[in-house]
Amino acid sequence: MDGNGRWAQKRGLPRTEGHAAGEEALFDTVEGALDLGIGWLTVYAFSTENWRRPVDEVRYLMGFNESILTRRRDELNERGVRIRFVGRRDRRVPARLLRRMDEALALTRDNSRMTLTIAFNYGGRAEIVDAVRAIVDGGVRPGRIDEDTIRAHLYDPAMPDPDVVIRTSGEYRISNFLLWELAYSELVFTDVLWPDFRREHLFEAVREFQRRDRRFGGSG
Ligand code: FPP
Repeated sequence: MDGNGRWAQKRGLPRTEGHAAGEEALFDTVEGALDLGIGWLTVYAFSTENWRRPVDEVRYLMGFNESILTRRRDELNERGVRIRFVGRRDRRVPARLLRRMDEALALTRDNSRMTLTIAFNYGGRAEIVDAVRAIVDGGVRPGRIDEDTIRAHLYDPAMPDPDVVIRTSGEYRISNFLLWELAYSELVFTDVLWPDFRREHLFEAVREFQRRDRRFGGSG
């Protein structure tokens, strides 16, 4: 959900106003995804690198995520959305936020219309490191480790590899997002800053995806 800071700066507002404006973008996108019958939607809400931001912004983002989960979980639940999280539950994440995450998880666990995965304190490399640690911890013999073993130790082994990834705000990078899972995903780039993103932009990305020829390394 990139471009919040620049969106705010362009308007002479503090960066945090950009994050606040990103909430509507998120919920409109969720509605669009539900309309399309998309089963899995994953959003990057806070990266393992975002701790390097000024403490005030980090504090704001922790409170903001907590507040969204508290204010909007019932609505997501009523829409049949199952909320999940990927990322590290380390000590830097405030206990109150972890509680809200657990509550949202428990409240929506039986929903099946769509899974909204929130990548929070998430890094693609950290996820692979954590998977390797878990495999070694489990005493798996090196010769028995294959791609399925790695997948089974990712944060959410049930999450399918994304068909399409949308990067907003005119950046052309992966920025440590779902590194393992993106191996064959189609990448769609848009200049739209996240607070301006709406379901129509999601629909356009899906149309773009439908025009792509996916061969998964084969010759088609
Ligand atoms: C990146 O924009 C955006 C973020 C670090 C936070 C986005 C989070 C939300 C919209 C809230 C999501 C909450 C839940 C519970 C799903 P940036 O600050 O990097 O923008 P810039 O690149 O223009 O500086």
